[in-house]
Amino acid sequence: MDAIKAINERVSVSQLTGPDITMAQKETLFQAALRAADHAWLRPSRYITISGKARSILGEVFLRSTPEWEGLSDERQQKFRGMLQRAPLVIVAVTRLQDHPKVPRDELRLSTAAGIQNMLTAAWALGLGAIWRTGDMVHNKDVRQALGLIANDVITGFVYIGHASGIPKQPPVMLSSDFVSEWNGETLVKTND
Ligand SMILES: Cc1cc2nc3c(=O)[nH]c(=O)nc-3n(C[C@H](O)[C@H](O)[C@H](O)COP(=O)(O)O)c2cc1C
Repeated sequence: MDAIKAINERVSVSQLTGPDITMAQKETLFQAALRAADHAWLRPSRYITISGKARSILGEVFLRSTPEWEGLSDERQQKFRGMLQRAPLVIVAVTRLQDHPKVPRDELRLSTAAGIQNMLTAAWALGLGAIWRTGDMVHNKDVRQALGLIANDVITGFVYIGHASGIPKQPPVMLSSDFVSEWNGETLVKTND
């Protein structure tokens, strides 16, 4: 698929199903992620794949690390258990923070964010669906421990990837003139003025 078409037409897909993502598809996604902009080439991003049975094992951690989980209704408990089953593949995008004289820590996370966006676009170009999610589990210490994260690691996203189980929504029409101005050397001028 043409790159501009994939960038402009991609939408997030939340209803995802099998079949499993192939090795070749995964490698395409990883290579796309690894081409993210990266100030000073510090390589701050790590990607952890979760598929098959591992999804329910981590789903159990999601549930049991939730305060007072035992008091939750069966339905709520199943919701936590099933969170990662919403796609055949979940990629946890992790940023490994480090100090650098020229690269603020925020920029390390921005690089991982760019990697995630590249994966979303590459998934779309491959005919797959994907959605970037975060939520409370991003900060959960039991989840962090289960995934083997170290103190400097932060989870920047859970990227759910699969096959769209319905027809993906249409991208919204957005007028660039609503968001873009020209600075003429003195002041901002709307491009449609
Ligand atoms: C940092 C970040 C975190 C997000 N977290 C969630 C989330 O936890 N759950 C969710 O449904 N959407 C989340 N989203 C939004 C979706 O990924 C998506 O961008 C949104 O539904 C808009 O859809 P679109 O990509 O088709 O425009 C998040 C987006 C970003 C950038």
